[in-house]
Amino acid sequence: MGLPEWVPDGVDITTPNAARVYDYTLGGFHNFQVDREFAEAAQRAWPGIFQLAHANRAYLGRAVQWLADQGVRQFLDIGSGIPTLGNVHEVAQATVPGARVMYVDIDPVAVAHSRHILAGNPHASAISGDLRRPDEILSHPEVLALLDFSEPVALLLMAVLHFVPDEDSPGDMIKRFDEATVSGSYVALSHGIPAEVQADAQNQVRTLYQRTPTSVHLRTPERVSALVDGWSLVPPGLVPITGWRPDPDDDEAPQPAVLAAVARKGTPDRP
Ligand SMILES: C[S@@+](CC[C@H](N)C(=O)[O-])C[C@H]1O[C@@H](n2cnc3c(N)ncnc32)[C@H](O)[C@@H]1O
Repeated sequence: MGLPEWVPDGVDITTPNAARVYDYTLGGFHNFQVDREFAEAAQRAWPGIFQLAHANRAYLGRAVQWLADQGVRQFLDIGSGIPTLGNVHEVAQATVPGARVMYVDIDPVAVAHSRHILAGNPHASAISGDLRRPDEILSHPEVLALLDFSEPVALLLMAVLHFVPDEDSPGDMIKRFDEATVSGSYVALSHGIPAEVQADAQNQVRTLYQRTPTSVHLRTPERVSALVDGWSLVPPGLVPITGWRPDPDDDEAPQPAVLAAVARKGTPDRP
């Protein structure tokens, strides 16, 4: 049986992949048997990991909404994933018509599907890129054509930095972004941390991820905070994702294992 038409040439469908595992946990359809089995094994090891993915996605939506409410009109979303419900351009453009969004991911399925759904949208696009090579992203012709770095830009690094090991300098992307942008720009991130109450489950899932192209590297809150050194943390600061400006009607279970932060370049933001 042939592969579905959305599968780009050369994709390895025999190895689980973070983008497609995440897509499955969110209820998406751009994943393969190996990703589904991986996700189910992760769920057995860490019951609640699917809810964690949903909580991360909900935080992404709230952060983008908040940034759009501040008037941010440009977004650079790295490790953007496979498009699903509540994509950045949909949330941002609902508040700021014409908001520009560049999606970047290392996974060819994520990039191909993003480009497919964005065909004909002059304000959003997607490229293949690697967070570990910030200069290639920041000087990419499509990025420079879409984003105006003389105006504020929000860099989104949601649930991606913990796929970058220390030896690949996960903070470099933020440093290079800092050099490239003006005051009023933002970094918004979420990042897995070692959580004592879930230590066994986390270890099992970390072991599982060693079978994928992107192993998991949890960092303490202090080390996550250091990634945005020199930036002004927007209230409520660095907090579990479910605690970052939750919607009043939300009753999500707390998620202590993944932290959220939005930080502003320049003077501290309005509360
Ligand atoms: C868990 S998903 C998060 C998707 C989306 N940011 C969200 O929060 O809903 C992580 C994504 O990061 C991507 N990724 C992992 N390492 C990367 C790297 N070095 N550069 C760019 N993307 C990467 C994966 O392919 C995957 O799509």
